[in-house]
Amino acid sequence: MPQEPTSPTPEPSGLFVAFEGGDGAGKSTQSRLLGAALEAIGREVVLTREPGGTELGAQIRQVLLHGDHVAPRAEALLFAADRAHHVATVVRPALERRAVVLTDRYMDSSIAYQGVARALSHDDVRDISRWAVEDLLPELTVLLDVTAAEGRARRGGVHDRLEREDDAFHEAVRQGYRQLAERDPARYLVLDAGRDPMDLHRAVCRALAGRSPDLRMLVPVSHQDVVR
Ligand SMILES: Nc1ncnc2c1ncn2[C@@H]1O[C@H](COP(=O)(O)OP(=O)(O)O)[C@@H](O)[C@H]1O
Ligand SMILES: [Mg+2]
Repeated sequence: MPQEPTSPTPEPSGLFVAFEGGDGAGKSTQSRLLGAALEAIGREVVLTREPGGTELGAQIRQVLLHGDHVAPRAEALLFAADRAHHVATVVRPALERRAVVLTDRYMDSSIAYQGVARALSHDDVRDISRWAVEDLLPELTVLLDVTAAEGRARRGGVHDRLEREDDAFHEAVRQGYRQLAERDPARYLVLDAGRDPMDLHRAVCRALAGRSPDLRMLVPVSHQDVVR
């Protein structure tokens, strides 16, 4: 019997993953490790961050984190402006060429910091962000759940304008994140940020490999692969 022609392997589709959690949670560490694991299976990876993932964003980041007092609503709008530009000029173009975009912070940061911890209203801040990005949501958000005390210990001595807030503020941020994950568990992977970094990396890889056929070959990198 003639063999059925095998259909060509489909091109992988773009993938958008956000890392969220308080300052010092390990977002940069985990996004770097995952980026290396994805590159090892041949994927194009765009590692980016908010605020500041673009040239305009770097200027917005400077006034937001290293400038003088910013009124809370202005702060929320500046974060949303950074996000709008970041999504339009970096994230969407990368997803269209089927890259994997790993962002260190996204709209959940605005909801947790400005909406919940600054008490500007969770829903208002969410709606502003959604408008800014025309509803682009990550396929997966990895929430690194860190206590205020642990985050403070890991940040060390240098603090930006938000990091300088007290532990009550950072504990409110943490609760804001946890509520978001509880409301939409299918889109979140919540991990205890106090675990060993390589153990967390393995959990992130496992979760992604199980979600997408394009990523079933994904394996964690070993520690020596990423020491630089
Ligand atoms: N799971 C972990 N356990 C202990 N220390 C960690 C862990 N992940 C990261 N760190 C350390 O904590 C500090 C902050 O990590 P980083 O990835 O920069 O956090 P974030 O980007 O969330 O602010 C760094 O010194 C990093 O080496
Ligand atoms: Mg970081």
